[in-house]
Amino acid sequence: MEPYIQSLGVIPIFRPSFDSAEVKAVERVLFSGWVGLGPETDTFEKEFADYIGVKYAVGLNSCTAALHLALQVLDIGRGEVITTPMTFVATNHAILHMNAVPVFCDIDEYTLNLDVEKIEKLITPVTRAIMIMHYGGHACDMEPVLHLAAKHGLKVIEDCAHSCGGEYNGRKLGSIGDIGCFSFHAVKNLAAGDGGMITTNSKEVFERLKQLRWMGISKDTWKREGKQKEYDWRYDLNELGYKYHMNDITAAIGRCQLSKLNMHNKRRREIRDLYTQELHTLSEIKTPQEMPYAGSSCYSYVIQLSRRDKLNEYLRERGISSGVHYYPNHLYPLYEQYYRKLDVAEDVWKNVLTLPLFPDLSDEDVLSITQHIKEFCKYEYVCGAPDDLPVSV
Ligand SMILES: Cc1ncc(COP(=O)(O)O)c(C=O)c1O
Repeated sequence: MEPYIQSLGVIPIFRPSFDSAEVKAVERVLFSGWVGLGPETDTFEKEFADYIGVKYAVGLNSCTAALHLALQVLDIGRGEVITTPMTFVATNHAILHMNAVPVFCDIDEYTLNLDVEKIEKLITPVTRAIMIMHYGGHACDMEPVLHLAAKHGLKVIEDCAHSCGGEYNGRKLGSIGDIGCFSFHAVKNLAAGDGGMITTNSKEVFERLKQLRWMGISKDTWKREGKQKEYDWRYDLNELGYKYHMNDITAAIGRCQLSKLNMHNKRRREIRDLYTQELHTLSEIKTPQEMPYAGSSCYSYVIQLSRRDKLNEYLRERGISSGVHYYPNHLYPLYEQYYRKLDVAEDVWKNVLTLPLFPDLSDEDVLSITQHIKEFCKYEYVCGAPDDLPVSV
């Protein structure tokens, strides 16, 4: 594989991995005459449910839609939802869209997941659910979460946008809570440009979701079309739904990506291990650790260092992209009224830096990135200095 730095001149943080299989699958669906919600989505849902180890899966157009529908179908109402600040805002926007109340819980400084020991004291009589986001693909510690949920009668939603294929004590993430929400956004482990999926073991939830995702309509158009293609126009409307369903083009790409997911995640793990091998001895840098209960999907590789912004700049000038995931959501003006002091999140986010990680990244690319980081650690780098040179310390 040609190193990215040579072929593109720049190494992106994330990049999807496609080949002719996706092209052929899309071609097949395009020429089939049915590209909307249809049989390809149906098959993808069944394959995905099998892979995750749940009874049902419902194809959607994004994880944002999945999170919104999850809260609706679990009847959260205007109650409180305990959630993480260390996530993409889609997780918490879903709570606001439902007019429910996000109750931010502090995070664990190592995994950057919810600190499960801090959840119980946030539970009140109006708490309805715990929203889990498996950060970077590393499982949140789910046993204590399930225990609290059972004790207080709460629902558990897993935001698995980062964790497709990730595991907790040998169980696939998205099969542990009441509902799992997946993203097939352009750079996710299973990338289909966009798209999402809900997983659940509840038949009732599944049947309601099938209607909610398409306007609340009780039958799918392609099913109404029937074998003889006579068009049965009748359908029922029981509940106000949304235009959130998946289409068969997305499903065709998704099925190809699902068949390669284990292979891609294996390569992601190799890259993670190579990074850690090269970086863990640098005293300035904290490398991510995997907990014994977790089998990470290795969506992202996030290091921690106090000179985060300087390293970000240093790498950028050398054609290597890096990023910050995330600015704690409770610090955004939009979430001001839900602010509570979260010592760890407010401290740790200043140090996190996401390095490039995607299946097609070569070992040579990783070694070139880590070599630059090693050089950086030898110097006190002055960003924007007139001669733009590192200053030795
Ligand atoms: C943690 C998390 N949740 C939800 C989403 C939303 O996913 P989608 O883009 O499929 O709506 C993302 C997307 O980046 C995410 O990172």
